[in-house]
Amino acid sequence: MKKRILIIGACGQIGTELTAKLRELYPAHKVIASDIVEGDKELMKGGPFELLDATNYSAIEDVVIRHEITDVYLMAAMLSATGEKFPMKAWNLNMNSLFNVLNLAKEKKIEKIFWPSSIAVFGPTTPKTHTPQRTVMEPSTVYGISKQTGERWCEYYFHKYGVDVRSVRYPGLISYKTLPGGGTTDYAVDIYHKALKHKKYICFLNAETTLPMMFMEDAIEATIKIMEAPSKEIKNRSAYNLSAISFNPEEITESIKQHIPEFTITYEPDFRQAIADSWPQSIDDSEAREDWGWAHRFSLEDMTGIMLDNLKGKY
Ligand code: SER
Repeated sequence: MKKRILIIGACGQIGTELTAKLRELYPAHKVIASDIVEGDKELMKGGPFELLDATNYSAIEDVVIRHEITDVYLMAAMLSATGEKFPMKAWNLNMNSLFNVLNLAKEKKIEKIFWPSSIAVFGPTTPKTHTPQRTVMEPSTVYGISKQTGERWCEYYFHKYGVDVRSVRYPGLISYKTLPGGGTTDYAVDIYHKALKHKKYICFLNAETTLPMMFMEDAIEATIKIMEAPSKEIKNRSAYNLSAISFNPEEITESIKQHIPEFTITYEPDFRQAIADSWPQSIDDSEAREDWGWAHRFSLEDMTGIMLDNLKGKY
């Protein structure tokens, strides 16, 4: 089999679990992890690793040629909350890294790209519930603007240069292996840590802020599934809506209380409230389900059980 995979941003929240899963599915020496910093022990000893700056075209090209890479998963990005603090840095990282891999594919140096988009492509004028695949998109964050622009470029490179690029709009992702960083949906990870550690949590979003969310195992499944689907099934070359569960801080608190009855939450919304308020509450992902057979598995209750079980050893 000639498939050889490069994960850029392999040490982040998604990259860590994606790399581990790909190393289960393919010979580990053909799955190359890369990031600007080294990852955890498990990732570092699980297969090849390259220190790599996603904004450096020739550095990526060098790794691609040396390892005869065919498929690239570009997971490096600056997320919504940090992006508001460093707008130009977010724009440069998110766009330049994407152009680097799109251009490598245009030059026929790689065959296939996965690049994640996000619910952040939507904005305050988008319909809030069951948000359709095609709708008003006026994102109000730098992160959202970069993802929306990225979607347009992906579709452009597909039509203009035949680049095989595939994408989904991730909702907020919840996992226990690696912490997220700089996102608006990160409270839904932090809350489990604080519930175990302090039995209380101060939430930076208000009680009623419903957002689309997903357990990491579902997100990894979707990512690999869309990459393995036959090209003709991928009819959308911008990014597919992708959905699993929706909840607000009050509802996730209730699900935690089933396991930790004394857990309490208080609310101190900050600048991230406005970001969350600009995003949809639920997403219509019927095209992903129809085109390439996407289906989620984990409910809020399933996820809470798994999160608490896996994190309790830590505290
Ligand atoms: N989880 C991301 C964020 O909050 C959204 O894609 O920024």
